[in-house]
Amino acid sequence: MKLVAGNSNRALAEAIATYLEIPLAKCLVRRFADQEIFVEVMENVRGEDVFVIQSTSAPANDHLMELLIIMDALRRASARRITAVIPYFGYARQDRKPGPRTPISAKLVANLITEAGADRVLTIDLHAGQIQGFFDIPTDNLYSVPTIARDIKEHHDLKNCMVISPDVGGVVRARALAKRIDAPLAIVDKRRERPGESEVMNIIGDVSGRHCILFDDIVDSGGTLCNAADALMDKGAASVSAYITHGVLSGGAVARITASRIGELVITDSIQPTEAVLSARNIRVTPIANLIGEAISRIANEHSVSSLFD
Ligand code: R5P
Repeated sequence: MKLVAGNSNRALAEAIATYLEIPLAKCLVRRFADQEIFVEVMENVRGEDVFVIQSTSAPANDHLMELLIIMDALRRASARRITAVIPYFGYARQDRKPGPRTPISAKLVANLITEAGADRVLTIDLHAGQIQGFFDIPTDNLYSVPTIARDIKEHHDLKNCMVISPDVGGVVRARALAKRIDAPLAIVDKRRERPGESEVMNIIGDVSGRHCILFDDIVDSGGTLCNAADALMDKGAASVSAYITHGVLSGGAVARITASRIGELVITDSIQPTEAVLSARNIRVTPIANLIGEAISRIANEHSVSSLFD
């Protein structure tokens, strides 16, 4: 087995390599003067089972191209099997046509990954489970729920906890967490009553006096999270914290979360945290390298991956 890392999240790749007790293969990924990407795999991969670790996080297009070019190099070097390990799968939110003459970019990205040489894909908390079906190669979608449930049990008193889905689309994910920590579930229903009027946040469920735990797959601008936290506090919640798998945190998101009523936001390191994230007063990072490492080991040894979540 060989592990190859792109440049998007070197720290995570190294932590996965440590878990698997295999060094990262030597692979040169550099730029020409005009910013074209050049890759050279510096060791023999002929006949190897190769796992390429690369989140397609910002800058998404650069990181995606790096992943595609690394896989092309591996395929031409006669790797036996290539698994694209994409902890954060960018473009996933473009999974349907929101209007006429718009793309389904998640499907296009799936096609590109397959065409570049991936035989399998391994990812975590896909924005929508059906994106698995955009690939015609085996695609394992891991869940962060067990890792997050463990962290909640270590850091919170479960007696008064309530899991909150910050929008109707995230209910299935939030319900899975609520079940695991044996807590009730409430839902934030975001609605614009009339065009041009501001959004109304209705809370489905009684949150008064509860310690609310928001759970979602992505925090990007932080808008969804901060607005949900305000609505919950206005309805009498005792406190609000949040667990999010992918800390995209673009633009002024960190400042927005720091200034919000969220007691603590916990993200995984599926995307490499910036310095601003690491020094934010109310953001903490929980590692997922062991989960990915274990899944890689099971794929390589042809053992069950789903039993990781039993
Ligand atoms: C949307 O369906 C996702 O699950 C997230 O809720 C969304 O991407 C968060 O974006 P933002 O932080 O910009 O509100």
